[in-house]
Amino acid sequence: MLELLHKNKQQALSELQRAADSTALKEWRSRHLGKESALMQALGSLGSLPAAERPDIGRRANEIRRSLKAACQQRADELRRAELDATPAAVLDVTLPGRPVQRGRLHIATQTLRRIYAIWAEMGFQVYRSPDVETDEYNFELLNIPAHHPARDMWDTFHADTPGVILRTHTSPGQIHAMREYCPEPIRVILPGMCYRYEQITARSEIQFNQVEGLAVGKNIRFTDLKGTLSDFARRMFGASTGTRFRASHFPFTEPSAEMDIECFLCSGDGCSVCKHTGWLEILGCGMVHPTVLQNGGYDPREFTGFAFGMGPERIAMLKYGIEDIRYFWGNDLRFLEQF
Ligand code: PHE
Repeated sequence: MLELLHKNKQQALSELQRAADSTALKEWRSRHLGKESALMQALGSLGSLPAAERPDIGRRANEIRRSLKAACQQRADELRRAELDATPAAVLDVTLPGRPVQRGRLHIATQTLRRIYAIWAEMGFQVYRSPDVETDEYNFELLNIPAHHPARDMWDTFHADTPGVILRTHTSPGQIHAMREYCPEPIRVILPGMCYRYEQITARSEIQFNQVEGLAVGKNIRFTDLKGTLSDFARRMFGASTGTRFRASHFPFTEPSAEMDIECFLCSGDGCSVCKHTGWLEILGCGMVHPTVLQNGGYDPREFTGFAFGMGPERIAMLKYGIEDIRYFWGNDLRFLEQF
């Protein structure tokens, strides 16, 4: 009997080495340790053995059972390890540093816009939204730019199929919307938004870009208010010691009109490639609201005056960060966007 059990054990152990996966192992377990196995049968039939042999055989049979169980467990561990080694997870090295998390961020144009909003909010200007899709009337006529006026060339236009409907070429039509809504109250608003021009796309000009328009209307507003307010904006935006200058210019909806330059913040006015060795950077167009435009907005120009200005946040960001090509803004190249 003992000899038989011993032989079975040797057989079982050599079979165990051949069990190559968990199913084979399960079969092995039921064959050698299950109810029907020779070993369990022997243990079950101890009672029918002569009393003198019983303790010895019982003890040995239990020993065999324990060692088979242990061998089975060991084989199961081996198989599990082999399985893990074979999966790609085996290349996981938990001691390596973690991968950096990709963080989203605001577009550089949005960041610049928000900075501009914050500065104007501090100075008491609230944001006024006006539509991107405009009429010829608002975009041109009411701004003192009649059909065939040569100044229309400044704003090459996208026309919709419906006659008279266009994409705004600048944010100035918002001036009329704001005036017609607030008249006869005084106004202090900025009008930000996308503008569209039917132009050749180059490093310097895009067919879409943001503008931030500003409008102040009230009594006794003068050109000195315009100069003071815009110079203050420049100092808040570009630094407390930023110098400004106003050059005479022309816009049909302002009179007089000007362009504001700021002292080049790269060379502090000494002259460099960014300011094309002039020491100055052009930042915005501005002027006193033309009496005709005030009238079109509902205000009596004998009683009310105002100033308006328009700046390009992309252009400001380009100057500030040394961005050489405006096409990067809407190109959606992450290598560009991730830098800000
Ligand atoms: N609308 C002008 C432009 O697009 C800018 C401007 C706005 C000038 C307001 C004067 C006053 O060029």
